[in-house]
Amino acid sequence: MQQVNLGMLGGGTVGSGVFHAWQKNGALLAARLGVQINFRKVAVKAFDEPRPYPIARELMTTDWQEVVNDPQIHVVIELVGGTGIAKTMVLTALTQGKTVVTANKALLSAHGPELFAAAAKAGVNLYYEASVCGGIPIIKSLREGFVANQFPAIYGIVNGTCNYILSRMKAEGADFGAVLAEAQKLGYAETPPDLDIDGIDAQHKIGILASLAHGFWVDHHQVHTEGIRTVSKIDMEFAAKLGYTIKLLGIAKQSKAQSPKSKAAGVQVSVYPTLIPNAHVLASVNGVFNACFVRGDIVGDTLFYGRGAGKDATASAVLSDVADAALDLKNGAQVRLAPFVAHAKKGRVMPMDEVTSQYYVRFSVVDKPGVLAKIAAIFAAAKIGISSVIQPEGHEGESVPLIFMIHDAPNAAMRKALAKIAKLPVIKAKPVMFRVESFD
Ligand code: NDP
Ligand code: HSE
Repeated sequence: MQQVNLGMLGGGTVGSGVFHAWQKNGALLAARLGVQINFRKVAVKAFDEPRPYPIARELMTTDWQEVVNDPQIHVVIELVGGTGIAKTMVLTALTQGKTVVTANKALLSAHGPELFAAAAKAGVNLYYEASVCGGIPIIKSLREGFVANQFPAIYGIVNGTCNYILSRMKAEGADFGAVLAEAQKLGYAETPPDLDIDGIDAQHKIGILASLAHGFWVDHHQVHTEGIRTVSKIDMEFAAKLGYTIKLLGIAKQSKAQSPKSKAAGVQVSVYPTLIPNAHVLASVNGVFNACFVRGDIVGDTLFYGRGAGKDATASAVLSDVADAALDLKNGAQVRLAPFVAHAKKGRVMPMDEVTSQYYVRFSVVDKPGVLAKIAAIFAAAKIGISSVIQPEGHEGESVPLIFMIHDAPNAAMRKALAKIAKLPVIKAKPVMFRVESFD
């Protein structure tokens, strides 16, 4: 049987998970692929760091160059993370003619075009299934399963840590900080976890999905991104009363030009806390689970669901890339579509100002006559339509929440109107604004 030798950079949460999964199912992989996959070396930072699963000591080195320069190693798995040394590691491995498998969405987001160009120049592949949605085979599905489709819309709960936090806050009223600490203990969170809770990790992931789906590399700086720090228990409760659940949603949606002023069509690529109708399947995706709702122009609506983070689920995705790499080597040629093909002649990420959406807005106002009318007048002057209003019973003169549900409105108009409203003396705190998604 043909032998394919692996070298792995990083043996932490995901790396040790990959080693463990290979120990468990390596023989099954060999039987399925007709290729014997061997681990040859694993580079770590320090030998004695605690690892979720043990890695054979004789395979370990603290010198990553030993891995990428070993002529016996065919495939290098990068699981170090970040955009610093990991970039040098990946580029060196590619230059050495090795296929690279990575789970590093931060690195791909920052340097995708350069890395894919280096892979093409070296005549090898750079695989990245584990970079988006943990164990869900979403990259392969978009690339191969849906090769005959255009993608009008992709909606994804793509960050396990945020979904874990939001689900526990909603179900148990749990404290944000305590749940985040648990997500870190479980190996879900990035280092530092701000990458998760500020929406940056989701930004990287939806950027990668949008690039793959639309055939041009989406610069992650163009992805409008809001994290979950602004989501509070009170908003979860009002959302529930209105029949919604709040989720951090990554969106990649083809959008028409919205008005004569907004010149061109484009792809909206963004990440923000979103009110999802409880009847929609994404509203019931809880815990560390991720889900991607993919609308293809031929296939229609499809749904992918699974664990979005953690050592075992992510290991499953890494090994599926290893299997593809092993088959490339066995066949002496790539038999699948290249991991990324820039097929679009031109692509445009639609600026957020031009994006139209429904909104949930919560004001903190002094309960006195005329407040509602003043706010409504500002919305009316901006041609922004109100679909419903809730004001829980309060005491005159005291501060109360006032919730508006807003019909479709351009983001720029909404932000302008909120800035005006925020200046009214009756407004007691910064207004909270979330989008409402109807999935039409
Ligand atoms: P960890 O921090 O658990 O592991 C990082 C590993 O890199 C450690 O084994 C560390 O060594 C090693 N390392 C750091 N610097 C060096 C170096 N200079 N030379 C050699 N080894 C080095 O991270 P994760 O496993 O959680 O994440 C790895 C990648 O996978 C990241 O890109 C992450 O975004 C991605 N990812 C993570 C998921 C998850 O659920 N955790 C899910 C999907 C993707 P040592 O052990 O000695 O400290
Ligand atoms: N920190 C990431 C998450 C890991 O929570 O989704 C998986 O990519």
